[in-house]
Amino acid sequence: MKNLILNQKDIFIEQLLELLKIPSISADPQYKNELRRTALWMQQALKDIGCDKTKIYDTAGHPVVYGEIMVSEKAPTVLVYGHYDVQPPDPLELWESPPFEPVIKKTTLHPAGAIFARGACDDKGQMFMHLKAVEMLVKTNALNCNVKFVIEGEEEVGSDHLEAFIREQQTMLQSDIIIISDTGINSLENPAITTGLRGLSYMEVTVTGPNRDLHSGLYGGTVANPINVLCEMIASLHDENKRVNIPGFYDEVSIISDEDRKKMNDNEINEKDFKDAIGINAVVGEYGYTTLERRSIRPTLDVNGIWGGYTGEGAKTVIPSKAHAKISMRLVPHQNWVEISRLFEDHFKAIAPQGVKVEVTTHHGGGAYVTPTDSIAYKAAEKAYEQVFEIKPHSKRDGGSIPIVPMFEKVLGCKTLLMGFGFDSDAIHSPNEHYGIENFLKGIETIALFYPNFEDLFKKN
Ligand code: BES
Ligand code: MN
Ligand code: MN
Repeated sequence: MKNLILNQKDIFIEQLLELLKIPSISADPQYKNELRRTALWMQQALKDIGCDKTKIYDTAGHPVVYGEIMVSEKAPTVLVYGHYDVQPPDPLELWESPPFEPVIKKTTLHPAGAIFARGACDDKGQMFMHLKAVEMLVKTNALNCNVKFVIEGEEEVGSDHLEAFIREQQTMLQSDIIIISDTGINSLENPAITTGLRGLSYMEVTVTGPNRDLHSGLYGGTVANPINVLCEMIASLHDENKRVNIPGFYDEVSIISDEDRKKMNDNEINEKDFKDAIGINAVVGEYGYTTLERRSIRPTLDVNGIWGGYTGEGAKTVIPSKAHAKISMRLVPHQNWVEISRLFEDHFKAIAPQGVKVEVTTHHGGGAYVTPTDSIAYKAAEKAYEQVFEIKPHSKRDGGSIPIVPMFEKVLGCKTLLMGFGFDSDAIHSPNEHYGIENFLKGIETIALFYPNFEDLFKKN
C-alpha cells in the first residue's frame, strides 16, 4: 500500500491543490456560489474514485455531498464524514502567500514540505485523504467494506442544516462506524487516536445604555457606560481560581478518575514548547488542572470578540450607546449545550446593573463527545497506526468541537472514530494554515489499512 501511495503522490497533491484553490468560505454569503462549485468538484472526485452513486443534497444552507460504494450487503459499512467549507482567511495581510493560491514549503516541523492554503489541514486536506485511501483500495480490488461519504459545507458555521439532513436520510446513512479526519496529533513519532471532542455554546451579548452616543464631557460621570459595564460583567464570569462563575455551570461535568488523569498526562507536551510556539511567557487556566486537562477535559469560557464605541483613527470623545461581545463556552461530556446557553443567558441578565439593558442571543452549539477504546473500530485503527508508524498510538481527547458527531450518535446510533493527522502548529483558523505532505501520505496509508483491519474484526465478531 505504501509504495502504491508514493507512486501516486504527485497526482494526489496536484488534485488537492486544485481543491484548495476554491474559496469555500461558508461564513460569508458572498461565496455562496464558490461553495456550490466546491460541492460539484467533490461530487466529481467521488465519481472518479469509483462511487456508484453520488448526489448533491441542497439544504437551507450550503449543499451536502454524498457518495457511496456498496461492495456487499454482508460487508460492514463505514461512513466517512468531512467538510469542504473553510474559515475566512482574515487577516489577509498576515499570509505569506495568498490563502487560495496553495504553495508547498518546508518547515522545521514539516521537513518533507507542507501545503500552505486556507483549508489545507481543516479540513480539505484531511478529508481528501479518505477519498484517496478508498481509491487505492478500489484500484487494487481490496475494498471489502461498504463506504458512504458525507461531505458538508457548513461545519465552520455550526452545521446548522446537517441535522435535518441526517434525520431525513437515516436509512441511507446506516453504518457500522463513522470515521473522520478533522482533529490532530502531537507528532508523527508519537501518533494518537482522538477519543474526545469538547462541545460548544456560542453566545452574543449586547449592552445598551443611552439611546444615542453621548458627548463624554457633557454626560461622563452621570450615566452607565455600556462598555465599562460590559467589561465588568465579563470580568465577573471567572472567579479567582479561573473557574467559570455561572451558577450551575459545573453541575453536570463528568469527573475523571485520578488514574485516568494520570494516564492522560503521560502524553502531556513539553510546556516550554507549548509556550514558545505561541509566544507567551506563562500558561493560565483553571486552578488544579494541567494544560492538557484544561484544553480537553475541562469546560471553559472565552470572549471571542468585543466591540463598541469609537475605534477609528485618532480620538473621539464619546460615551457609546451600545457595547457587544461574542462569548463561547467549550463544554465537556454531560453538559447540555442548550441548558448551558440558558444558564448563561439567565446569569448574564441577572448581573446587569442599573442603567443598562442586556440582550443575549445564542448562535449555535453542540455537545461534547467521547468514543470508546474497546470497540473493534478502535482496535482496527490502532492496528493500522501500528502498521504505519511502528508504534502503538496513544489516545487523546481534543479540545475542539465537531457539532455533528454527538448528533450522529443520537440520530443514527453510530459511534465515531477520530483519525486526525494535523498538528496544533498547522495554524488552522489562522493565517498561513498548512498541512504536512508526510501527514497527508501517512494519513492515506493509515486509513487504507483501517478498512481491511475493520472488516477482519467485524467478521470475527
Ligand atoms: N476541525 C475543527 C475542530 C477540531 C480541530 C477538533 C482540532 C479537534 C482538534 C473544526 O473544523 C472546527 O473548527 N470546529 C469549530 C466548531 C464550529 C461550530 C465552528 C470549533 O471547534 O471552534
Ligand atoms: Mn474542521
Ligand atoms: Mn475548523
